[in-house]
Amino acid sequence: ENPASQRVALAAGFHPEGVRRAAGAGRDGDRYDLLAWVRLADDPPGPVPRLLPDLPDGRLTDTVVTLRRLTPADAEVLYRLHTRAEVVATRVRPVAPTRADIDRRCAVAESDWLTGRAADFALCDAVTGTMVGGCALIYDEPATGQAMIGYSLLPGARGRGLATRAVRLLAGWACGPVGLARLWAGTAPWNTASQRVLDRAGFHREGVMRARLPAPTPGARRPDTVLWSFLPTDPHPLPPR
Ligand SMILES: CC(C)(COP(=O)(O)OP(=O)(O)OC[C@H]1O[C@@H](n2cnc3c(N)ncnc32)[C@H](O)[C@@H]1OP(=O)(O)O)[C@@H](O)C(=O)NCCC(=O)NCCS
Repeated sequence: ENPASQRVALAAGFHPEGVRRAAGAGRDGDRYDLLAWVRLADDPPGPVPRLLPDLPDGRLTDTVVTLRRLTPADAEVLYRLHTRAEVVATRVRPVAPTRADIDRRCAVAESDWLTGRAADFALCDAVTGTMVGGCALIYDEPATGQAMIGYSLLPGARGRGLATRAVRLLAGWACGPVGLARLWAGTAPWNTASQRVLDRAGFHREGVMRARLPAPTPGARRPDTVLWSFLPTDPHPLPPR
């Protein structure tokens, strides 16, 4: 949770190696995770190249939607969003997160960005600056240049093309400055709204990954996922409406 220090480590040529769970000890005996940053004797002096660069001017915008990095101040809205039943239903395990889960996610968002694990965004109305949803790029396969995206909106902001705009912005950044070879997304077979968003944003439907997700309850069948992809060479359609 100390991104300033992590930026110093990167600038000085230290590579993120991973999380040392509960390696830190507080005065009152509480334990906390530490990130390990390591520089080998023969590593170049630095800075270490980052998988996920900072955003130009701190944001991506098309003048209707703005995406900016998630911060601890966004926890309240993100918690409201991710505990809605229809959003919970789209999680890998359809269980609502706790407020502590969300606080933690917001607290480490900048660190996740710096270590190249994920880019977690607040999705905002570009005019008022109000956060109306969230989206994220999870860099799940850096070795092959592939990452996945997810997104959700508060009900009052739906149906105005905002999700489609956000996905287009994200795809442009991912295939541009980030330099991904392939961006993918998975939707539940019943989630027509999300499939329409991806279709409108220029993604291709690749097929069905059978039994991809864990069973929601013991003994239930594992749900399928519809697989979508976007390549840097795919045309970027104009924003909707
Ligand atoms: C999916 C979600 C992000 C869509 O947000 P949105 O801002 O309403 O989407 P858009 O306004 O950009 O709509 C894009 C298209 O989907 C269509 N659409 C939106 N909601 C729909 C619905 N419930 N059923 C069918 N189509 C729908 C729109 O009409 C539009 O198509 P059009 O351009 O041909 O008119 C939003 O419904 C949501 O947050 N759902 C819960 C979380 C979720 O499903 N996340 C995705 C997980 S994979």
